[in-house]
Amino acid sequence: MAKILLLGSGELGKEFTIAAQRLAQTVIAVDSYEHAPAMQVSDACEVINMLDGEALDALVEKHKPDFIVPEIEAIRTERFYDYEKQGYTVIPSAKAANFTMNRKEIRDLAAKELGLKTADYRYATSAESLKMAVSEVGMPCVVKPLMSSSGKGQSTIKTEDDIEKAWNYSQEGSRGDVAEVIVESFINFDYEITLLTVTQRNGKTLFCPPIGHRQERGDYMESWQPATMEKHHLKTAREMADKVTEALGGAGIWGVEFFVGEEGVYFSELSPRPHDTGMVTLAKTQNFNEFELHLRAVLGLPISEITLERIGASAVILASGNSENPTFEGLEDISAAPKCDFRIFGKPTSRPYRRMGVVVTYDSLDGNVSEVTHRAKQLASKISVRL
Ligand SMILES: Nc1ncnc2c1ncn2[C@@H]1O[C@H](COP(=O)(O)OP(=O)(O)OP(=O)(O)O)[C@@H](O)[C@H]1O
Ligand SMILES: [Mg+2]
Repeated sequence: MAKILLLGSGELGKEFTIAAQRLAQTVIAVDSYEHAPAMQVSDACEVINMLDGEALDALVEKHKPDFIVPEIEAIRTERFYDYEKQGYTVIPSAKAANFTMNRKEIRDLAAKELGLKTADYRYATSAESLKMAVSEVGMPCVVKPLMSSSGKGQSTIKTEDDIEKAWNYSQEGSRGDVAEVIVESFINFDYEITLLTVTQRNGKTLFCPPIGHRQERGDYMESWQPATMEKHHLKTAREMADKVTEALGGAGIWGVEFFVGEEGVYFSELSPRPHDTGMVTLAKTQNFNEFELHLRAVLGLPISEITLERIGASAVILASGNSENPTFEGLEDISAAPKCDFRIFGKPTSRPYRRMGVVVTYDSLDGNVSEVTHRAKQLASKISVRL
């Protein structure tokens, strides 16, 4: 049986670990704090700062895992290249994990090297150079730290007066030692999707039915599957996902994000791992959920097809404030509702807007996706986190 070193132990890692446990694999769950969600279901756990390269080296040396599976971006991913040289398998690959933690690497690869259509973009390293960059891409535009996720440090510039503010805000939200930001033209998209893509070690690349989602404060609120999408746009998105995953290399599931508007499909970014919007697959919308797919790809177990079994939606349960012992109210109400399920992640503490759980709803294939999504949202709003 394989030994998996899981770097990051949040809710996505927890579901991945559960999938691994069902196939009797060994998982060592790592995070910066104790009792993280995936640690509650893993075989062993370790608490380290994963941005500390030496601590990471020591862990790999100690456990000698068959697979190193990153679950988050904030890892000293430069070390992954060494691990590969030493014969370790990084999922999906050192390059994928390293490139996607920095918006510059992945954007330049997608736009310049692979020629994928993206929002027009520039980089800036100071408030002054941001001003220049904004004049080039035009307003409105979006500023993001090169290293950040979940919308941290991200803001939209609508007028000249916003520039200074956007710069300062980006510096507060930046992770790591990089001050640089990307500024990209605001795409007035009709909808955005995540295209879950599975690359296999010895098999063809497969695509899940597209997932629609809605974002607030840079985090997803609801997602639904399948997203209604013109056939030719889906074809374009698949071609782009194929190209970018091929260029990054390796086996695993990827969440490839696109905007779709009047001028077609724009590549936005991608995660070389299960995607938060993909939690909709916990509604059993597919023959395998995104975590099971990731695990199979990691282990090199062939996946012959991905089929849509029913329609579904997910809606997040957020905390309203800080707590050292969060509990939940309203679980009876949603349990009583038909065609609905939920997960409570078991995060030991809460803070404002922290994602604590998710509600999933579903219906048969001839059901209505908007109705299912509306229901997920309504039901999630009935749960409150007691502080
Ligand atoms: N150029 C843009 N035009 C319009 N909307 C945008 C643009 N860039 C980002 N957004 C909006 O902000 C959301 C978050 O952006 P992005 O995915 O780049 O950030 P992130 O911090 O990496 O988010 P996450 O890690 O949660 O995926 C997008 O899903 C989209 O709704
Ligand atoms: Mg994103």
